[in-house]
Amino acid sequence: LTSHPINIAIDGPAGAGKSTVARLVASRLHYVYVDTGAMYRAVTAIALERGIPPEDEDAVGRLAQRLRVDLRPGEEGQLVFADGEDVTSKLRTLEVNRSVSLVASYEAVRMKMAEEQRRMARAKGVVMDGRDIGTHVLPDAELKIFLTATPRERALRRFKEMGEQTEITLEQLEQEIVERDRKDSEREIAPLLQAPDARFVDSTGRSIDQIVDEIVEWGRAASRTI
Ligand code: DC
Repeated sequence: LTSHPINIAIDGPAGAGKSTVARLVASRLHYVYVDTGAMYRAVTAIALERGIPPEDEDAVGRLAQRLRVDLRPGEEGQLVFADGEDVTSKLRTLEVNRSVSLVASYEAVRMKMAEEQRRMARAKGVVMDGRDIGTHVLPDAELKIFLTATPRERALRRFKEMGEQTEITLEQLEQEIVERDRKDSEREIAPLLQAPDARFVDSTGRSIDQIVDEIVEWGRAASRTI
């Protein structure tokens, strides 16, 4: 029995565990993992670094059109390069967190990123995580997952990830998560939305391993039926 490589789209809100799950699913299936949130973060980080105000849609749009964003596998996960510079360590700051939804709402930015993402998925065998992958970027993905968890659970996970390096409280974090969900779901272009043919997975109270096993099984089944 031959199996054919497929594309797997994993969408959902911030902190649902998408990137951890997507990375593990990709490694189990020997697929390539593409973290699309990191691409929007790279545009945001470079804009901030170059003194381009995130509110300036035209300037940020021009930056995104020129910027070359590459994803490369590293020893400890995916590395993100912007115009050849490794920007991985600059992507998860509070400043980037606060501006990335705005930057990701710009049409010129989204068009450029979606084009790059489709190019990366052309050869199949990709696990791509984001907000609009199943609905917009890869509407033909053979397997689509909508992964979520309660805001409290998502805040708790981010809180643990951040460790000692932050002054922020759990309540503030939960508030920011709710606010970012709202912005990502209400924006006009390619909002966060469950595709009609996506499988809904709630990760609240479930282990990463259980969820990964489930998606890997679905992925194997889907790759046998095409
Ligand atoms: O998944 P993340 O937290 O790294 O995503 C960062 C931001 O980018 C988030 O506010 C939503 C946005 N995003 C998006 O609009 N479309 C995607 N495909 C991925 C992320």
